[in-house]
Amino acid sequence: MIEIRKLRKQYGSGSRITHALQEINLTIDKGEIYGIIGHSGAGKSTLLRTINLLERPTEGSVFVDGVDLTALSTKKLQDQRRRIGMIFQHFNLLSSATVEENIAFPLRLAGTAKSEARRRVGELLALVGLTEHGKKYPAQLSGGQKQRVGIARALATNPHVLLCDEATSALDPQTTNSILNLLLDINRKLKITIVLITHEMQVIRSICDRVAVIHDGQIVEQGPVAEVFLKPRHDVTRQFIEQVADSVEIDKPDVSGAPAQDGTVLKITFLGETTYEPILSRTVQQTGVTFSILQGTISRMKNTPYGQLVVRLQGPRDAAENTIRLLREHGLDVEVYSNGLV
Ligand SMILES: Nc1ncnc2c1ncn2[C@@H]1O[C@H](COP(=O)(O)OP(=O)(O)OP(=O)(O)O)[C@@H](O)[C@H]1O
Ligand SMILES: [Mg+2]
Repeated sequence: MIEIRKLRKQYGSGSRITHALQEINLTIDKGEIYGIIGHSGAGKSTLLRTINLLERPTEGSVFVDGVDLTALSTKKLQDQRRRIGMIFQHFNLLSSATVEENIAFPLRLAGTAKSEARRRVGELLALVGLTEHGKKYPAQLSGGQKQRVGIARALATNPHVLLCDEATSALDPQTTNSILNLLLDINRKLKITIVLITHEMQVIRSICDRVAVIHDGQIVEQGPVAEVFLKPRHDVTRQFIEQVADSVEIDKPDVSGAPAQDGTVLKITFLGETTYEPILSRTVQQTGVTFSILQGTISRMKNTPYGQLVVRLQGPRDAAENTIRLLREHGLDVEVYSNGLV
């Protein structure tokens, strides 16, 4: 578990001071994939780099598995850092070293015996799908393959945490997906906690369990990805959600001029397995109203199906009210847009 408490980071001094992070509090659970999204300059890299103390906070503390990193001596900090791997947007590989040598580099620093290092490199090459490429140099690899080397190197010392700084931002969409799937696979197989920062909502939606939105050095919103997507509270969050092509936020249909007999218009939000259950059709059968769908989306966020439907109910008023009550009892979020009489 990672716990960030009252973290502040300032760069510079006097009149040239930049408040890169202002009082950040964040808890990241063991084994989860935690996304941090924000615009350029929001403080994402600074925040990520304070998790392994590449950047020393001005104030506050960082606990990783219960150890306060800010209180450690240099030697002890080095030991702790081996438990935290990191990958970068531009891969940061040694160009004069082969793939195998790049992956073995942290093992050499840790004093691992050569034969053990060779075995471990073979294992890591297989894990990231590069078994055939061990003798190549970085310049002979595609961007996606370079990032696979970066991931293998980051995992060499068996870290418990993997920090990813815009790990897919230099890659095309298809390669991005393959790297995200690899990260998901690693998270499941090795039970490693992943913290990733990005400016792309697509990345968050594909693999993250929870997300924090950072703006001007502060966390303005955080929560499970599906909840933040369906009920964003901050404008910055809404801007990011708009990036995703099949945006889930449905415009309020214009029902202002509709005659009263046009029935009751509802927006129903489904989250989790209820999406695929025919709750709506069962409920209307029970209450005797009919419904028509005006708008809708159904999609999937990592493992969570979600959807929103705008429907018009037609039937007696008490039957419509009964329907709304039953839908809510089934755990659906129901917003009433217009409540006409029939
Ligand atoms: N070494 C530094 N010295 C001075 N100011 C810095 C330094 N590093 C970052 N900053 C400032 O701190 C703020 C946050 O920067 P940071 O790099 O964390 O943002 P970011 O969200 O990662 O942005 P990007 O998406 O462009 O990578 C910015 O105003 C930046 O100019
Ligand atoms: Mg950055």
